Formats: sequence, structure tokens, C-alpha cells
Amino acid sequence: TPSLATTFLDLPLTNPLMNASGVWCSVASQLEALLESESGAMVTKSCTLEPRDGNPEPRYRVLDGNKPWGSINSMGLPNEGFPYYLRYTERHDYETKPLFISISGLTLDDNLAMVDSLKDAVTPAILEVNLSCPNVPGKAQLGYDFDAMDTLLAEVTSGYGQRQLGVKLPPYFDIAHFDEAAAILNRYPSVAFVTCINSIGNALAIDINSESVIIKPKDGFGGLGGDYVLPTALANVNAFFRRCPEKAVIGCGGVKSGQEAFLHLLAGATLVQMGTALYEEGPGIFARVKAELLSIMAQKGYENLSDFQGKLKTL
Ligand code: DOR
Repeated sequence: TPSLATTFLDLPLTNPLMNASGVWCSVASQLEALLESESGAMVTKSCTLEPRDGNPEPRYRVLDGNKPWGSINSMGLPNEGFPYYLRYTERHDYETKPLFISISGLTLDDNLAMVDSLKDAVTPAILEVNLSCPNVPGKAQLGYDFDAMDTLLAEVTSGYGQRQLGVKLPPYFDIAHFDEAAAILNRYPSVAFVTCINSIGNALAIDINSESVIIKPKDGFGGLGGDYVLPTALANVNAFFRRCPEKAVIGCGGVKSGQEAFLHLLAGATLVQMGTALYEEGPGIFARVKAELLSIMAQKGYENLSDFQGKLKTL
């Protein structure tokens, strides 16, 4: 049978699947469930320096019933605060699987304060800096402000002592934006990976019966996930895979079975995250998607991920 074993930043993983930050990772019981699951790695909920309640409910809704799976959310970064996740990094079982810690400071100074604590932490947790939360009223997505992103990367990479880290990017929709974002990222060699994509920000879902929006925050505007975002996610994975040869790409967006995981890997992802589908199905999803990915590989005669990873064909 084929193998799903892989490595990420030189760390061995049993398989390339993990949760998307925000899903099943806000509190210790959820993090423990991810550790117990068959995921190859895991990431904590994007945190702010202080705990936050987030936006008023309802703030997450599944779209179109049960399957197909889409979602809209305007959570607004509800989280237990940076020290809580830092403490989890200190007791995580790194032998079982690697751990990423996601930070999403409300200001540059908040991000720098968290990075400064992590720099001196002895744990091998991998830092993912979220540049793309669409849901905090009054806060623009950093990934869409190239000057602000450049400034943040300069300060964060230097504040982290040039240790390796990654960034969670918003989806881009224009070749000029792929070019500009990649050019900025490539100026920072310690940015070792990019995670593509966060939700497609500020979508509007409307219920025809009630003639109403379906989430409360921001007059119903929220980040789109699930089936709707797969082609945009694949485009962003492949765009950054082509433009950032020294960096790894983590794929996120629209993965609910082995098929979409395979497509992300083919497009250039090294690891593949699940958000909406994990939210709906729970951590048992990792065993299912692993089995599906293995059966696709067996059908195609592939023995290892490296047989097809990044080998997308063009016409
Ligand atoms: O879709 C998202 N929702 N992306 C984020 O980065 C944050 C999250 C939230 O808490 O609103």
C-alpha cells in the first residue's frame, strides 16, 4: 500500500492532513481531540494578546444544508488569549505530531509582543502569522495592504530572530497581486511557508424565505469557506508554489475528501488543511480523508506523495 508520510520544515509527519486554524482548536479539549485524531499535524485558533468573546451570534452558518459543504463565518477572533495557547504549546506531545501556533494580533505591537514571547519559548511549535482575518470590524486584512504587510514581515521576522515562520494569506484574484505578494514574501527568507487561503472575505449569504441575512455581525457579511472556495484556493496554492520556490505552501480551502486533498497536493501544497468539512464532521474526518487519499494513490499507481506533489500538468 502507498505511504502518506511526509516532512515539513524537516519534521516527519505520518500524513499531510491537519485542521485549518479556527476549526476545532479554540480550547484544550478540542486540541486534545485533534491530537488523538489521525491528522498529521495541528494548529491552534488564531489568538490575540488578550482573550476575546468575538462577534455576536449567530456568527457561523453552514450553507446549502448538509452536503455540499459551504460555510459563512464572522467569528471575530473569539479566543482564549495568547498565554492560553502558549501554555498548550508547552504540554503538547510533539512526538505524536507537529503543532503550529497561529497568532492574529489586533495591532503590529500585539503581534510583536507575542512573537517576542515565542522567540524565547523552548517549544518546537511552528509559528503561523494570520495576515488575513476578514471579520474584525474596523480592521482591514493585512494581506491586502502590501505596504503594511511588508512592514509587518520586516518587524516580525527580525523580532523572531530570523527563526522560521509562516503566514496565512487571504485569497488573491489578480495576477499582479500574486506577483506583488510573492515578491514581498521572497524578501524574507525566514518566512519558510505560506498557507493559502483564509476564507474569501465579506461574502453575503441570503435566505430567500426570510429575505434576511443569516449571520448577525457586519449586516450579514462574512468569510466564505467550503466547496465554493476550492478553485480559488487551488489557484492561490499553485500561484505561490510557482513564485516562491524556496518556501513550502500549505493548502487550505474546499477540502472535504481525498479528491480535494489530492488536488491541493498536485497544485503544490505540502500539507493540506480542512476547515468547513472538519467543522461539520468532526476530527473523525482525518481517518476518512486519509483512506480516500490512499485509495486514489493506489488507483493511480503512486507509492509516495512525492510521486505527484507539485506535478500539476498544463496544456
Ligand atoms: O474566516 C476567518 N474567521 N478567518 C480568520 O482569520 C478568523 C476567523 C474569525 O475568527 O473570524
